[in-house]
Amino acid sequence: MKTIIEPFKIKSVEPIKMNSIDDRKKIIINNNYNLFQVRSNDVIIDLLTDSGTGAMSSKQWAGIMNGDESYAGSNSYLYFKDVIQDIFGFKYILPTHQGRASERILFSTLCKEGDIVPNNTHFDTTKANILFQGSKPVDLIDEEYKNTQSIFPFKGNMSVKKLEKLLSTTDLTKIPLIMLTITNNSGGGQPVSMQNISQVSKVAKKYKIPLYIDACRFAENAYFIKQREDKYKNWTIKKIVQKIFSYADGCTMSAKKDAIVNIGGFLCTNNDEVAEKNKNLLILTEGFPTYGGLAGRDLEAIAIGLNEAMDIDYLNYRVKSIEYLGNKLLENNIPILQPTGGHAIYIDASLFLKHINKNRFPGQALACELYIAGGIRCSEIGSLMFGGIDENGKEYFSDNELVRLAMPRRTYTQSHIDYVIEVIIDVYKRRKNIRGLKIIEQSKYLRHFTAKLKKV
Ligand code: F0G
Repeated sequence: MKTIIEPFKIKSVEPIKMNSIDDRKKIIINNNYNLFQVRSNDVIIDLLTDSGTGAMSSKQWAGIMNGDESYAGSNSYLYFKDVIQDIFGFKYILPTHQGRASERILFSTLCKEGDIVPNNTHFDTTKANILFQGSKPVDLIDEEYKNTQSIFPFKGNMSVKKLEKLLSTTDLTKIPLIMLTITNNSGGGQPVSMQNISQVSKVAKKYKIPLYIDACRFAENAYFIKQREDKYKNWTIKKIVQKIFSYADGCTMSAKKDAIVNIGGFLCTNNDEVAEKNKNLLILTEGFPTYGGLAGRDLEAIAIGLNEAMDIDYLNYRVKSIEYLGNKLLENNIPILQPTGGHAIYIDASLFLKHINKNRFPGQALACELYIAGGIRCSEIGSLMFGGIDENGKEYFSDNELVRLAMPRRTYTQSHIDYVIEVIIDVYKRRKNIRGLKIIEQSKYLRHFTAKLKKV
């Protein structure tokens, strides 16, 4: 059959509160054109993030009841550790409350003032945590991949050429680690190929620099490798995942993505010394190493979710339903980042709203318009998120102005998606009347969460 159905039945539902365009016009003004400030009750379809918003399975909920809440030596931790070791293969595993806690601990341990951390593309929290250590995050992606309209099977790949160049011309004591983000979220949810992972690892080994993977969407990345890299077409997802992580010295993970839980994360390493330092920091700020800021029940749900995320029927439905949304938008000439990625559709707002300049935040203007038109909440991944003001008071901007419609896992059905398509087409038809925004208040770090804006 051509139709791909949701490979699950719904056992528990959460009502959606409907509201009107007039309500939403008032809500967006009251919240200063910042969708992070809008309460969820006022949102009809919430595509702000795929992080922590997925639906847990009945097995995960059963796991919640099995949670062992002992302070030390919890059975749930031992189960969590065994599952992660089996899948990812690392020696040391620390639970953390979410991905950014793993990042903060890892960068506190490894980075010092003036260091440089290369990545294919840093996610915003990764970037902010590196900057917080006084170090510099550097994105190494090929120029041709930055064009949202170019089609390549692995647009998330790190540029090995740029990496070689950086390493061969920099004092290596200033590069404490190399990161690789799979899939590349800020670059459009694009996958990284096994070939690229192996090449990056080879370069890392040559210069004796540890390679850490930002593993948030590891299962989706593995699915793309199976689909697009011939050599792996007959491999199971788990075997592909094991191969990916065999190239790395450690990983950071937000379990809120491909472990399909509402909260949690972990930090892995093979290095004894790094593990010891990480553990001491974890105890100081997150919790004892057998729970790390989580409840025992969370550890159970993560362990179960990690295996569910590698299920081929689930991955097929997940990636194909995002492709379905993308194809419908393309059929209506709506400019999206191509090809469609693993967890989201990214509308190219600089093509959608050609009349709005970068300094008037076309991505944020579009995101707000989608909210007003249909109660859809999505996020800007452009100059509000990645731009700012440098030390000399000069404004800088992001390369791309994207609007991300991130799909929570196992949460919305095809009719929800059809509604989203209808709203976007409606907004596209009257795009010329949409005006830009300007910032009236902002913070130094992660300004998109709290900035106040108004219409120009
Ligand atoms: N790395 C990547 C690639 C991410 O996408 C995220 C989170 C993190 C690290 C941090 O994880 O939220 O658990 O602390 N991304 C979410 C998103 C927030 O909407 O894409 P966290």
